[in-house]
Amino acid sequence: MRAETLEILCSPVERAPLQFESRPAINGDATQFLVNREHGLEFPIRDGIPIFVEPHAITGINSRFRRIYDSWAPFYDLLSKVGLFILGVSEHKLRREFIEKLEITNGGRVLSTSVGTGSDLSVIPRSCKYYGLDLSAGMLRVCQNRVERLGTLAELFLGQAEHLPFKDETFEVVYQMGGINFFNDQGQAIREMVRVAKNGSKIVIMDETEKVARALENIPGINAWFRHHRRPIIPPTALIPAGMEEVESCELYDGQAWFVSFRKPR
Ligand SMILES: C[S@@+](CC[C@H](N)C(=O)[O-])C[C@H]1O[C@@H](n2cnc3c(N)ncnc32)[C@H](O)[C@@H]1O
Repeated sequence: MRAETLEILCSPVERAPLQFESRPAINGDATQFLVNREHGLEFPIRDGIPIFVEPHAITGINSRFRRIYDSWAPFYDLLSKVGLFILGVSEHKLRREFIEKLEITNGGRVLSTSVGTGSDLSVIPRSCKYYGLDLSAGMLRVCQNRVERLGTLAELFLGQAEHLPFKDETFEVVYQMGGINFFNDQGQAIREMVRVAKNGSKIVIMDETEKVARALENIPGINAWFRHHRRPIIPPTALIPAGMEEVESCELYDGQAWFVSFRKPR
């Protein structure tokens, strides 16, 4: 972890500042930690990734999707490429068009609040400082391999989008592509995006529409994801905090994805 990264981190619930601590391994566990002794907080860093939430503390739909994405992680890239191909969408084109909407600046900090396997990294300008958070350790492992393969400087974190481990007004760009349809609390995740974005920043969110979710429900293997009642998919425009500017909402790719963007006031 870069030294400057420590300056932007805080504990995800108390928002307490953190310090780096290194100590000998006990029972093969982590040797490096982010700590706040005053609040009695300790977050291990495993394989270079700070762990801001342990599996037993994840509840509700987040817990179900953590397990699903952990087990699908090795196949996720292939599945999403094939899935998008069947829907008639080129993955590279989709990601390039999406990233173009983000207003990434040279040296600016960019945060993805569900980075997954880091497929966006192939189209993210190298001149930015990239940070990716996800609640699936499996997805982050694949992402970390990609980061090493590409030789980029992305930093990864295990946590929940509803409780971001970052200080207020840290990022020039905050985005979420895929996942938010099934977060425990979409409103809380959006409020967190706004909190960590700098004033004047653009916040962009995209996920599949109800039409695509219904099609997925009929595919053997994937239908298990939806076995327990799921809420209908509605673009979360009603959850955007009051006062946000330039609110845009539309459907893309022949109604297969919804897209929402807005700007935090200066
Ligand atoms: C459909 S994948 C999208 C991954 C990536 N953004 C992409 O475009 O390929 C959804 C991701 O959201 C993550 N996720 C689900 N719920 C989450 C939550 N509450 N907080 C953070 N990540 C979450 C999953 O682990 C998974 O990696």
